[in-house]
Amino acid sequence: MDNIWQSALDYSIEMTRLNLETLEYFPERVENGVWVSVEEKRIPSHWVDGFWTGLLWLSTICTGDVGLETSARAWTEKLAWLQTTTDTHDLGFIFYLSNVLGYRITGDEALLPTALAAAETFTKRYNPRGEYMQAWGHVDGPSHERGRINIDLMMNMPLLFWVSAKTGDLKYGRIAARHARTSRHVLMRPDGSIAQVGDFDPHTGIFLRQETHQGLSHDTCWSRGLGWALYGFAEAYRWTGDEIFLHSARQIAQYACANAPEDKVPFWDYNSLDIPYTYRDTSAASVIAAGLLELAIGETDQGLAVRWRSEAEEIVVSLWQNYSTRGTDIPAILLEGTRSVPHNMMDHSLIYGDYYFVETLVRLLRPDLEGTLFPGQVLQVG
Ligand code: GLY
Repeated sequence: MDNIWQSALDYSIEMTRLNLETLEYFPERVENGVWVSVEEKRIPSHWVDGFWTGLLWLSTICTGDVGLETSARAWTEKLAWLQTTTDTHDLGFIFYLSNVLGYRITGDEALLPTALAAAETFTKRYNPRGEYMQAWGHVDGPSHERGRINIDLMMNMPLLFWVSAKTGDLKYGRIAARHARTSRHVLMRPDGSIAQVGDFDPHTGIFLRQETHQGLSHDTCWSRGLGWALYGFAEAYRWTGDEIFLHSARQIAQYACANAPEDKVPFWDYNSLDIPYTYRDTSAASVIAAGLLELAIGETDQGLAVRWRSEAEEIVVSLWQNYSTRGTDIPAILLEGTRSVPHNMMDHSLIYGDYYFVETLVRLLRPDLEGTLFPGQVLQVG
């Protein structure tokens, strides 16, 4: 299998090099054969920026190419203005995959202050009454915005856990652990499926209802959200040692495996009534594959660890064999991602699908890099 993974990684790094020649701003999705970039200063569009820097840093460590490192640094620097922005819940995605990854790879202390400042800024979205981080909107926005949580937020917690580990200040990790417990409590269902969104009364912290934004409905399971949950709870387990998160990640993994189509690449919502005549989401498959590997690292049952790893391997091989851009002139790595069917955005390449595909390949091919790229240590944040 190593040969298939290596070919896929070589191709991905080649595409990344090609994109470096043409991209002027952070890529988000491919439309009509060209990357559509993030709108430069429109805050809500800034959640994907780190996936491009993440691709550059992973390409750097896999090749040792100084030119790639210079580019990774330059693109990372372009994100510094976001470190004090309280208006996005995605500072974790953005700064873990830029400044933290860059610091872990190069050891350059100059990359640290921005990551630490971003973690501090991110804590401003914490609501101590409901013990959750606010999803969309301004921190002083209307009640319905201040009362919103989403499953996507789970992927932003590693920035907080990592900053606690780095600085010794457990405040960040405590917020992340509390947010993770709340997410599990209000968004996870007994069958291992996930609701994307939850509404609270932000004044009392009382939970009101499950909702969705990109899924079919409040009681169905949006596939990329399932991936965020799987990866997010697996990480929460590694950073807290709390077995409730291991149990949750296992349940979600079981749901993903039991409900995967034959080629292992899920449709955009597991409960879509139009399956199999509807859209796949290769980005969901990539996130699930990376999440399964994260779970395998922390897994205490060796039989299950082998199973999670082999499921991840099957997903990545299917993505490479059935959904790669090889032979096309699409400037991305994977085809058939779905940003959001309810918003009429589907059947395109997505930078986060590409990033998690490459992360999975790197984790499969280079287990020696695991501790450098994706460390986890149990923090006393109970
Ligand atoms: N975090 C937004 C998404 O997954 O589309």
